[in-house]
Amino acid sequence: MLNKLSLCAIASVLLWSCSEPKEEVGVHTFVKDDHTQSNADSIDITHLNLDVKVNFDDRYIQGCATWDIDNKYNVSHLKLDGYKLTVDSILVDGNKVDFAWGATVEHLGEQLQIPIEENSKLVAIYYKSDPSAQAMQWMTPQQTLSKKHPFLYTQSEAIYARSWIPVPDGPGIRFTYNARVEVPKDLIALMSATNPQQKNDSGIYHFEMDVPIPAYLMALGVGDLEFKAIDDRTGVYADPMFLEKAHNEFAEVGDMVKIAEEMYGPYRWGRYDILVLPSGFPLGGMENPKLTFATPTIISGDRSLVNLIAHELAHNWSGNLVTNATWNDFWLNEGFTVYFERRLTEQMTDKSYADMLWELGYQDLEHTVQEMQEEDNMKDSHLKIELKGREPDEGLTDIAYEKGALFLKLIENTVGREKMDAFLTQYFNEHAFKTITTEEFIAYLRENLIEGDKELEEKINIDAWVYGPGIPDNAPRADMERFERVNAEREKFLNGTAPKDLTTADWTTHEWLHFLRKLPKPLAYDKMKALDDAYDFSISNNSEIADLWYIMAVAADYKPAYRVMENFLVNVGRRKFLTPLYSEMMETGKEEMAKLIYERARPNYHPLAQRTLDELILK
Ligand code: BES
Ligand code: ZN
Repeated sequence: MLNKLSLCAIASVLLWSCSEPKEEVGVHTFVKDDHTQSNADSIDITHLNLDVKVNFDDRYIQGCATWDIDNKYNVSHLKLDGYKLTVDSILVDGNKVDFAWGATVEHLGEQLQIPIEENSKLVAIYYKSDPSAQAMQWMTPQQTLSKKHPFLYTQSEAIYARSWIPVPDGPGIRFTYNARVEVPKDLIALMSATNPQQKNDSGIYHFEMDVPIPAYLMALGVGDLEFKAIDDRTGVYADPMFLEKAHNEFAEVGDMVKIAEEMYGPYRWGRYDILVLPSGFPLGGMENPKLTFATPTIISGDRSLVNLIAHELAHNWSGNLVTNATWNDFWLNEGFTVYFERRLTEQMTDKSYADMLWELGYQDLEHTVQEMQEEDNMKDSHLKIELKGREPDEGLTDIAYEKGALFLKLIENTVGREKMDAFLTQYFNEHAFKTITTEEFIAYLRENLIEGDKELEEKINIDAWVYGPGIPDNAPRADMERFERVNAEREKFLNGTAPKDLTTADWTTHEWLHFLRKLPKPLAYDKMKALDDAYDFSISNNSEIADLWYIMAVAADYKPAYRVMENFLVNVGRRKFLTPLYSEMMETGKEEMAKLIYERARPNYHPLAQRTLDELILK
């Protein structure tokens, strides 16, 4: 044991001393972050050396996390975040120390307290994760597409990195890392770092992330995966059975990166690859640097859902490069990213296409605001929100995404696109690898774009957007040309025109979504049947359309869709699809149906989705 211990520490010393002196970029922040119990604001925590082995049989990772620190304010302890971690021992510069755990704090986990000296440099923590770690989904071979090998992946945002690494877990704390990960020999490991493109015979993989990142961007995926290049800096990893399909769907991603660079400056992360996860993944995508994690449910065969990749790619500027200082400022990550995503999509397609996305987003926003109104919870409809004492996930609403993006769209419309783009490019450059609060952003906006222009200030009305409820009066609305045609066809259908006589041949996914969303709910059974007979919605390969159709089916008690719907629910773990669909069952007196399906499906969902749905269905 001792040999292994000292090896780990020595490896870290060597790596540290061999690497070039680190530029001091945004390694510390002094903004109060209520979601970390670490004291990284009074110690510089600069680098992590992670050395772990993945144990599929007992569902944990075990090994050593060594932190490089500079105790420049001479504090007595290094304090890190942990969540149900088991720590065996800790060495500070090679000497064993007596560490302690703080009590469990709701939502936050436990504080790991490690005594250090003024000149302490290396803190090596020997630990193991818990099988129930919130970030990790351990999947049986049966739960993967090829059904031959197990799969593991992590989802660290917002505050779950602490469930698999002892870490200073706040978005304002950045560090570089390198890692050595040992996995069963027939699997490959991938991280948010430089990645292997092929399996090797040893099952041991090495990673390096030389750009400082916050803990929520720590990511690991392990499985039977193959790689295929898109161009010389982009590529796809997927289940061998799915690789061709995924590669075809993402063929435009190489160009997408180039276009993004033309818009807002260089892509600073080296490679841009995509890892297609099993369908249990609770999200659409996650912007892990160098390696976006994506749900397979965006692979529809016609590239109509790749705007999700535009979103995750855009995070490499808004979020990964310029990071929200606390989770209360989450809209700075997501609102900017949705704005950037739509601009990128417009560039890749045309304005009429982007306008459809803006309009669908607006509808989502209206719906969210209405729900908040009904729940008397309008405070959460401000861009800047208060998440103290709450799970940061509660900020994951259309407010941050759609209201945030709309605010930027308003600014664009008011100052003109050229000025807006120059401003954003400068914003990304000047804040690169730093964190930013809402207040800092507003000051920056006033200083660099509004520049004392009273009329402009009034037109934009920052206060109403950032600290006020709902959708402000000056919110811009997208051009509805394509959707007006959809509205006309929907009217015809409702007035008795048969589906085959509607003009829908050139419709994309988004026209269909608008068509379906605005149908009466519940829709009469014969109308449901007529649509299904004509367009096969029940067996749609397009997850967005299928999900919406199943919600309509539940509302209308349209039983022919139930068997495929159940299949969808058992296989797909994406929370955005599950929550509204199960909710529809709960709200239309089909609680039993929800419970029965959930019982079967639950083992396939990620712990975070399980938590959300337990609350909804099992209460
Ligand atoms: N960073 C988010 C995912 C996230 C946010 C996870 C907060 C946990 C806490 C990611 O970029 C995202 O927004 N994903 C969306 C897709 C998107 C196109 C809106 C999703 O998963 O639905
Ligand atoms: Zn996002």
